[in-house]
Amino acid sequence: MGFLKSNLPKHIAVIMDGNGRWATARGKSRSEGHREGAQAIDRLMDASLELGLQNISLYAFSTENWKRPITEIRSIFNLLIEFIETRLDTIHARGIRIHHSGSRKRLTRGVLDKIDFAIDKTKKNKNLTVNFCLNYGSRDELLRAAQEVFLERKRSKVSFEKPLKEKELEKFLYTSTLPPVDLLIRTAGEQRLSNFLLWQSAYAELYFTDTLWPDFDKNSLVDSLKWYETRTRKFGGLENG
Ligand code: FPP
Repeated sequence: MGFLKSNLPKHIAVIMDGNGRWATARGKSRSEGHREGAQAIDRLMDASLELGLQNISLYAFSTENWKRPITEIRSIFNLLIEFIETRLDTIHARGIRIHHSGSRKRLTRGVLDKIDFAIDKTKKNKNLTVNFCLNYGSRDELLRAAQEVFLERKRSKVSFEKPLKEKELEKFLYTSTLPPVDLLIRTAGEQRLSNFLLWQSAYAELYFTDTLWPDFDKNSLVDSLKWYETRTRKFGGLENG
């Protein structure tokens, strides 16, 4: 496969869409689709380690997903708990760092405890960061960051008139320890960002595939990386400028 490390995206964000359609097509419940989706996360982590990727963000539950039926919401959170319980030792042994992006409000004590335990256990790991975006929405994140800037300026008596710089806001984003998103992947044929990492993806290359998330495998990831290699990143400048 031979990707040059320097050409690999430093941060890949994934909108894991299509679990429901995958299940419906097989006469299974939506929960079974999500379970299959969790296995696709296993494959993605393995493939990412193999290929030498450094940072992956996964949209596991959005601030808008609370509108889904309570049974489905429960099945996703139960899966997350099971995911951490059954995989954490392997994840840790492989040098993966777990990170959480999203609001802690509305998450149950049980979910928060599991996430906090996983984050603490894996905090020194360096091979790959997997950022679970759970109860995450970009607008919510940006409002919160703006509020924090306001409070910090008040605390440290910095004038509100002083122009706000990107760095001052960025340090309050959930992703402050991660580089900007280079490649954003959305599965299942939809072509929208759905309130996902909008600030962080300002210059991301956007890759859309019809593959449903439970079918996404190492080959799918390699296809997205090959496509990424062909893109010329300009960041608003000129190609050779
Ligand atoms: C989108 O598919 C998927 C989600 C909203 C949830 C993503 C969750 C997982 C991949 C499994 C959870 C596992 C962990 C470890 C958190 P959809 O249900 O919107 O699919 P559809 O558009 O086909 O209905």
